Amino acid sequence: MGSWIEEMRADQAGFWEARYSSGSPASSGRPGEMLRRFVEPLAPGRALELGCGKGDDAVWLAGQGWTVTAVEISQTALDYAAANAAKAGVADRIAFERHDLTQTFPEGLYDLIAASFLAAHPREAVFQRAAQAVARGGHLLIVDHGSRAPWSWSDEDAQFPTAEETLASLLVNEGDWERVQVGGMERIANGPDGQTATVLDNVTLLRRVGNAG
Ligand SMILES: C[S@@+](CC[C@H](N)C(=O)[O-])C[C@H]1O[C@@H](n2cnc3c(N)ncnc32)[C@H](O)[C@@H]1O
Repeated sequence: MGSWIEEMRADQAGFWEARYSSGSPASSGRPGEMLRRFVEPLAPGRALELGCGKGDDAVWLAGQGWTVTAVEISQTALDYAAANAAKAGVADRIAFERHDLTQTFPEGLYDLIAASFLAAHPREAVFQRAAQAVARGGHLLIVDHGSRAPWSWSDEDAQFPTAEETLASLLVNEGDWERVQVGGMERIANGPDGQTATVLDNVTLLRRVGNAG
């Protein structure tokens, strides 16, 4: 048996579907800390979330006034996310779409594209496509793990891409983008049994130069 990364890469849709359908529909009900930290000051517009899981970030964005398209490879995750959106009273502000992002990508231009801990493989082309779908004046936010939480189910020797490596992989003309944050940032993470730990997230936040047309 190989590592979970090998298993996931061999069958991304099957891996994530099995993970969600064998777990609980309950979610934390809280947005990711880096999303909250960096997006709260922005004026709301059209947002696209890549790999929305059970929908906590999408629900929070909708509550902040964004019109959200939320994408997942797992239909079960999408069903849980839609139920969470309905419970939060924001279902009318979120369109849920099923995509394997390595194969298909939602139509349109967005004022914010956010991807937190997106596990799609390979992911470079997904993020390159995402950069093309950011409207002028809009933001691209990619959040990755930069360190492993003590309770994480990922491999102990897991390697994490740095924010600079993620930026380089986008192949964008840097003159067309403003670097808002490219680097590691600490946050307090909450574990499944109430434990906490300081972890590092690698954050790539770029703003496309220009004004929304
Ligand atoms: C670690 S979870 C992160 C979920 C959520 N963004 C969060 O921050 O809690 C990774 C997510 O990426 C989704 N995913 C993995 N591969 C994908 C692909 N090829 N296309 C779309 N979503 C994918 C998984 O289903 C899973 O929900």
